[in-house]
Amino acid sequence: MGGLSLDTNTDARPTSERTMIYLDNHATTPCDPRVAEQMMPWLVEHFGNPHSTSHEMGRQAKSAIDTSLGVIASRLGIAADSVLITSGATESNNLAIDGICRHPRQRRRHVVTSTIEHPAVLDVVARLEKDGFRVTRVPVHANDHQLAGQIDLDQLAATIDDDTALVSVHWANNEIGVIQPMESIAEIAHRSGALFHSDATQAVGRIDVDLKRVDVDLISASAHKFYGPKGVGLLTIAGGMAARRVRLKPMIVGGGQQRNLRSGTMSPANVIAMATALELAITESALVAERVSQMRSQLWNGLVQGIDGISSNGPPANPSRRLVGNLNCRLPGIEGESWMAACSDVAFSSGSACSSVDAKPSHVLTGLGLSESEARRSVRFGIGKFNTPDQIDRAIDLLVAGYQNLTR
Ligand SMILES: Cc1ncc(COP(=O)(O)O)c(C=O)c1O
Repeated sequence: MGGLSLDTNTDARPTSERTMIYLDNHATTPCDPRVAEQMMPWLVEHFGNPHSTSHEMGRQAKSAIDTSLGVIASRLGIAADSVLITSGATESNNLAIDGICRHPRQRRRHVVTSTIEHPAVLDVVARLEKDGFRVTRVPVHANDHQLAGQIDLDQLAATIDDDTALVSVHWANNEIGVIQPMESIAEIAHRSGALFHSDATQAVGRIDVDLKRVDVDLISASAHKFYGPKGVGLLTIAGGMAARRVRLKPMIVGGGQQRNLRSGTMSPANVIAMATALELAITESALVAERVSQMRSQLWNGLVQGIDGISSNGPPANPSRRLVGNLNCRLPGIEGESWMAACSDVAFSSGSACSSVDAKPSHVLTGLGLSESEARRSVRFGIGKFNTPDQIDRAIDLLVAGYQNLTR
């Protein structure tokens, strides 16, 4: 990681972003060219298998991975041996939830989550439910409540008992950007001896995720959400403040490479990239948050001026309550899908990108108390560090013109 310039270099943004205006940074972010540059030698030159430590090339790869794990762990406030490398947050969530609940020594049979989690959590708990586990999905406060989108802590406390194995609540939401009250959830979960897992995929690299400050036992994250490559993520285990014992049943078995918890050859290029991306994201976070938050206001003000009756979904734009680059809004009269089709030079989303193959209205928005029709009239924008105020101005023109074409 030596020799990296930590300046945000917007001219280095990928070509695709210069032709199309990419405002979908919750779905994925472009790989920062400085991150890609760090990967290259580990793909082409130093290609040794990090688990073949009988020779120098393998040892070199292992040592690069160990250094990167150290960087990741210290940035998250945990010990290096508390980080497992995965293929992304979907795998991390599966491993955390299934791994804890299905461990042969797990006696508890209850799992608690929220109604607005990502499918990579909800589908895992649904499968556990089919297999006989008791599952509680705690609702969040409604859109017109002052705590819109936050989990209802009273209902959370009321549902947890000494049969609860795990509470899994995401740190920040991918559609409405709401940031959950992590300290309170941790306190409630631990009161009855449950473990607390958080899908921190949208939080890591965007807001402060310090496991020395917040008592979470496991978190999931994914490099492509913080300007790293796709296909690599992490699960932290037993790294929480109290270092509670986490017993995981492995999902992927084979060579036992990561302490028998996750088998398969690790990719030095990917792990180095994730560490570099995390380091850049954290070092530059204040600067990025300020720019992104200004562009978010610019976009919202432009849309409000150009589209009568547009309204916002989710919590207020307050950095302690909502990810600064997130905007979720509801249109009068037309569906989000039609608006997207009418504005094909702007990349944004009518729901969670990961589930946009699914024609159902967003469960996050209906979970907020919106009707199905309101949810279908909603779209999500995610502004990122490579966007520019010029792009936002152009996007406003295209979005307003697209809306007018559809409604006139
Ligand atoms: C909150 C959340 N969790 C999990 C995922 C899945 O991440 P991955 O693409 O790394 O599997 C996503 C992706 O959008 C997400 O936003």
